[in-house]
Amino acid sequence: MKIEGKEYRTIWFENNTVKIIDQTKLPHQFIIKDLKTVKDSINAIKTMEVRGAPLIGATAAYGLVLSILENNDQSFLKKSAENLINSRPTAINLKWAVDRMMKKLSGVNSDKILDIAINEAKEICEEDIRFCENIGLNGLKIIEEIYKKKNSAVNILTHCNAGWLATINWGTATSPIYHAHKKGIKVHVWVDETRPRNQGANLTSYELNEEGVSNTIIADNTGGILMQRGEVDMCIVGTDRTLSTGDVANKIGTYLKALAAHDNKVPFYVALPSSTIDWEIKDFKDIPIEERNSEELSHVEGLDENNNVKKVLIYPKKSKAMNLAFDITPSKYITGLITEKGICDASKEGLGKLFK
Ligand code: MRU
Repeated sequence: MKIEGKEYRTIWFENNTVKIIDQTKLPHQFIIKDLKTVKDSINAIKTMEVRGAPLIGATAAYGLVLSILENNDQSFLKKSAENLINSRPTAINLKWAVDRMMKKLSGVNSDKILDIAINEAKEICEEDIRFCENIGLNGLKIIEEIYKKKNSAVNILTHCNAGWLATINWGTATSPIYHAHKKGIKVHVWVDETRPRNQGANLTSYELNEEGVSNTIIADNTGGILMQRGEVDMCIVGTDRTLSTGDVANKIGTYLKALAAHDNKVPFYVALPSSTIDWEIKDFKDIPIEERNSEELSHVEGLDENNNVKKVLIYPKKSKAMNLAFDITPSKYITGLITEKGICDASKEGLGKLFK
């Protein structure tokens, strides 16, 4: 998708270097950063220079390419794989991507290992783009139906950033929106700010602006009253891990939006590529929920009057804070899962029909 009119992907490989857009600097600075070692990749994932489930999976895949470039030894590769999987706990895409790479790379001792790794990491990215595009085409049908009935702009609420910046291109939750916009269907997006890191305000609104999609940032607690007033036609969010039961882990605050949507009979959809499905865990209480540094809550970053980025403390110095990064939305609150293969019920039966 576009930034200042130029097409970008979120990650690419050039001259034995992985290139990323440093998302900790957006929206005030657009910086392309080089990753040269597996440690750089792990650090980029941990500090959220790259974030969003599909993108951290792709960064881990390229992290293994960098690992091979550093040290072509199987024990080093195995250790790199472990460290990459452990760099963030909730999104299953990390493990999914590393396992897929290791299936191709384990036990390969010839010079060919580098080419095999580069090709597989590239294919993970290309596949994600195809899947996200299909999610868009499938989700488009829902937006089209609402538009036909309403004959005015479709208001869609989204939480966090499940946009193209969270994937390689298109995004998951945003892909149906971009497809609708490109088809001339009027859409307007309510963007949850998404405290504490403000991925909604800093990333979703930013990328929608760059594509010319109408959007309004709202405080995280505003969705409820907008739904009561009939100003939300549907919600679409992303996910970091979807269980085979249809329960979904996503950015903290998603659950409360689903409850409000349920109470107001607003359709609540979750968009995901199959790389985000965890077929093993059966009970959502077993999903590891990331707890991040409380400084993400107590401090905010922004532009000062001289256009310099500045970080300031907003809490009482003595207060403690707790920063859980994800929550679980039980399947009963989800109208449907929009996947690359079609839309299904958020249930074992629904997912089972699409993914045999
Ligand atoms: O902590 P983040 O910014 O990595 O969280 C991202 C989300 O919660 C997204 O909704 C999810 O990864 C889906 S991305 C297509």
